[in-house]
Amino acid sequence: MSTRSAAAPLIAPSILSADFARLADEVQAVANADWLHVDVMDNHFVPNLTLGPPVVKSLRAATDLPFDCHLMIDAPERWAAGYAELGAHNVTFHVEAAADPGQIARAIRAAGAEAGLAIKPGTPLDPYLEILAEFDTLLVMTVEPGFGGQEFMAEVLPKVTEARRRVESGHLRLHIEVDGGINEDTITAAAEAGADVFVAGSSVYGADDPAAAIERLRARARGAG
Ligand code: DX5
Ligand code: ZN
Repeated sequence: MSTRSAAAPLIAPSILSADFARLADEVQAVANADWLHVDVMDNHFVPNLTLGPPVVKSLRAATDLPFDCHLMIDAPERWAAGYAELGAHNVTFHVEAAADPGQIARAIRAAGAEAGLAIKPGTPLDPYLEILAEFDTLLVMTVEPGFGGQEFMAEVLPKVTEARRRVESGHLRLHIEVDGGINEDTITAAAEAGADVFVAGSSVYGADDPAAAIERLRARARGAG
């Protein structure tokens, strides 16, 4: 049975797969996106290292797209609100790195952004259903965080379905976002499971025409492609 969201799907290209030497141009190339997904990695929570507040600050001046900052970092309580202060629309951090997720969510919201909670593929959803009331987005990782270009893990989709049921029954109000391995082939299963925000790195920036790739993903997520 499909638990597809009735909401319009949001497509969030990940600049992790962009050319970092030409970031402003790369962001212009996805101007038809809904959110811009900004992966922050610290070489501790994940083995990779990407970018931090100075780059987000500069990029903020280069586009009007809402920033969806995905913090794959230790000690998110030290940094999360700072991204909100830089103008992020949404700041998402990992529950595996957080001692007190609710407190961080409140700090993000107090600094003017929406709050998101991310869970890795091996992290169950059930222990966190209660605290999700303090969040605007649940990010279900569909790969192990750290790198773009990995294969989609369909086995995590039951967590998306469970979260969508909680939303449909009125117990939660949340965006349900999937991140990792999303392309024209995999997005349908994620949409049918109930996701309404779709991060796509390599399938957008690896395409000849990133804007056209976004439109194709959007059509598929709507069930029209
Ligand atoms: C991975 C990042 C993703 C990544 C997705 O840890 O969180 O946002 O950019 O890249 P693709 O779409 O190539 O799997
Ligand atoms: Zn991400």
